[in-house]
Amino acid sequence: MATPYSIRISSQKGGVGKTTFAVNFSVALRELGYKVILIDSDFVNPAVSTYLGLDPHDIWLVDSIHGRKSVNESVVHTANGIDVVPGKLSVNVPRLSNRDLDAWLEKLKRTDYDFIVTDTQPGIAYADVLKFYNEALIIVTPDNPSCINAIRMVNRYDKAHLKNSVVVNMARHRPYELSKDDIEDAVSTRVLGVIPEDELVPLSIYEQRAAVELKRNGRFSSAVRRIANHYAVTVGGRGRGIGIQAGDGRGGKINALMRILHLR
Ligand SMILES: Nc1ncnc2c1ncn2[C@@H]1O[C@H](COP(=O)(O)OP(=O)(O)OP(=O)(O)O)[C@@H](O)[C@H]1O
Ligand SMILES: [Mg+2]
Repeated sequence: MATPYSIRISSQKGGVGKTTFAVNFSVALRELGYKVILIDSDFVNPAVSTYLGLDPHDIWLVDSIHGRKSVNESVVHTANGIDVVPGKLSVNVPRLSNRDLDAWLEKLKRTDYDFIVTDTQPGIAYADVLKFYNEALIIVTPDNPSCINAIRMVNRYDKAHLKNSVVVNMARHRPYELSKDDIEDAVSTRVLGVIPEDELVPLSIYEQRAAVELKRNGRFSSAVRRIANHYAVTVGGRGRGIGIQAGDGRGGKINALMRILHLR
């Protein structure tokens, strides 16, 4: 691919599965043959290193942004073939100038990666940074608190003219859960995929390996691979052509709730 395609993995609400998705999606893209870099830009609770069992790394994202190290020097090459610019737990959340951050992101855009996947902390702190991304994925769980929060995020992305879609994570397909149609209807953006809750995920974190590698064709892995394949088809010019069907936007359970909350 000529220039890297940059995807922001985000959520308004914490703990919905951003890091889990970012790690597994990156590995699934890599397995489709792409060159992938995963950036841990969660300055509050960076977790990519822990999820993948990377050695404590002296150099991290902030060193690179501050120009103390080049992008290349900041990269950890992992056993599963993806490159990672790790975060680091620190007592104080680092202060970054927006100018330094912009300059760094521009540098990253000039690398030869096919995909830049960025794991983030909940919310959007600095609106201008959005211009760097080609697309944002919003991870939600199929419940009202998560989806109502996501509406704000869709609004901010829309204002910034940033293409956005939703990925539903930890679905258990219970009657009390919001359906894909309910969610599409509520957040007014398409649902790109629905990923089930799966014991494989905590097991993979324990094993410090990507879940998609541990069990290639399980329910979780197949759902993540389907989303990766969508990018292969739509952006990367590869893939086996498994299309992703967006919902038809019907539904209504949550719509009524929106009206009650005056969000619509
Ligand atoms: N599909 C899934 N099935 C089972 N457990 C999951 C799934 N996705 C995530 N989890 C679990 O949910 C928890 C939160 O996941 P994760 O750390 O990826 O969320 P996050 O959105 O990155 O959190 P934060 O906002 O703190 O960065 C973890 O314990 C993880 O094991
Ligand atoms: Mg996280």
